[in-house]
Amino acid sequence: MNKGLVKMKKFAVDDVYNLIFDVFLVLGIPADEVKICADVLIESDLRGIESHGVGRLKMYYDRIRDGIINPITKITKIRDHAAIATWDGNNGMGQVVSFHAMNEAIQKAKKYGLGSVAVRNSNHYGIAGYFTKMASDQNMIGLTVTNARPSMAPTNGVEPMLGTNPIAFSAPSDCEFDFLFDGATSIIQRGKIEVKARENAEVPKNWVIDNKAEYMTDPQQILKNLVSQTASFLPIGGMEEISGGHKGYGLATIVEILSASLQTGSFMHQLSGSEGGKKVPYKLGHFFLAMDISAFTDLNNFKHTTGEIMRQLQNSAKAPGKDRVYVAGEKEYLKGVQIRKNGIPINDALLKNINIMIDELRLEKQKKVFR
Ligand SMILES: NC(=O)c1ccc[n+]([C@@H]2O[C@H](COP(=O)([O-])OP(=O)(O)OC[C@H]3O[C@@H](n4cnc5c(N)ncnc54)[C@H](O)[C@@H]3O)[C@@H](O)[C@H]2O)c1
Repeated sequence: MNKGLVKMKKFAVDDVYNLIFDVFLVLGIPADEVKICADVLIESDLRGIESHGVGRLKMYYDRIRDGIINPITKITKIRDHAAIATWDGNNGMGQVVSFHAMNEAIQKAKKYGLGSVAVRNSNHYGIAGYFTKMASDQNMIGLTVTNARPSMAPTNGVEPMLGTNPIAFSAPSDCEFDFLFDGATSIIQRGKIEVKARENAEVPKNWVIDNKAEYMTDPQQILKNLVSQTASFLPIGGMEEISGGHKGYGLATIVEILSASLQTGSFMHQLSGSEGGKKVPYKLGHFFLAMDISAFTDLNNFKHTTGEIMRQLQNSAKAPGKDRVYVAGEKEYLKGVQIRKNGIPINDALLKNINIMIDELRLEKQKKVFR
């Protein structure tokens, strides 16, 4: 593998946003909902999370064209009881269902102090942190989790059972940025393997195992084996209990319960997107929670205490060779400043995918920018 061969170009944020917007629009997503979907994807690129921004557009494109995501999102409200609601996403766009679900949780929190919405039969919602930031932007704590197609083995196992099941948590602070933890409960998520494949780079040992519990490092092989269910991501903490692998496995299972049991939704193997060799909807579940800080305490005190926690962590003693201690959300905030100025990096392989969509959808305006 030779990372040196990868060519990278930078594109203005507005150009990438317009591309995402036009692709979704031509695929039949209503204009006001396209705005939500495009916002979630571009926010990922703006945070430097290359795996979930324009790099994921082709995945949604393929799934909508294959008929396994409905571009028109119809939400059914199954239960609504004071601070709590349960919704069915009816196989619509995950970003649209989730935007409305977190918004509903926030409205309920304004009324009751806490608000929570559990969702079933949805689709991949992108970066979990987008939705928690909706809450922290309104001076609330936001929490969301989602299940995903099975790709992670439980501790002592080799069968992909759980998804990469991310957890996101945002809290407002008096720092330049909010505390925003947003990460998979596996060491790595599929998007980062796809980025490695596009870069023609090796995957570090201890991220992925095969069905004999041997480490895998070739990203193309890993992507193939994930399809045949003969590769598994490892939970946070790795393969063994000695390094705490069982704790990542436990967290991923908590996510699965919050994403399936509360909403009588689908879980684990039912989320594989395939039945008898035929592509079928993924039927994912999500969970959203908003907490109104001012119902607990004075908002400014909360922001100051959270900010102090962040500052004291940043200013704590550094390990040899390390010049900085970060807090969650900081790297993405710093990348955002750079990316807004310098543009979004897009490599050759991704550009090729972008041009396939541009040609197939006959997006003449985009051709001028991305050729
Ligand atoms: N929708 C899905 O099914 C799905 C599944 C998995 C992941 N994802 C998304 O993929 C994205 C990337 O996930 P990931 O697991 O690769 O995240 P990651 O490992 O890049 O980062 C996880 C978190 O750690 C923080 N962080 C990074 N370095 C740090 C440091 N040195 N000190 C303190 N904090 C630090 C980051 O700010 C971030 O909040 C997330 O947005 C996640 O929601 C989505």
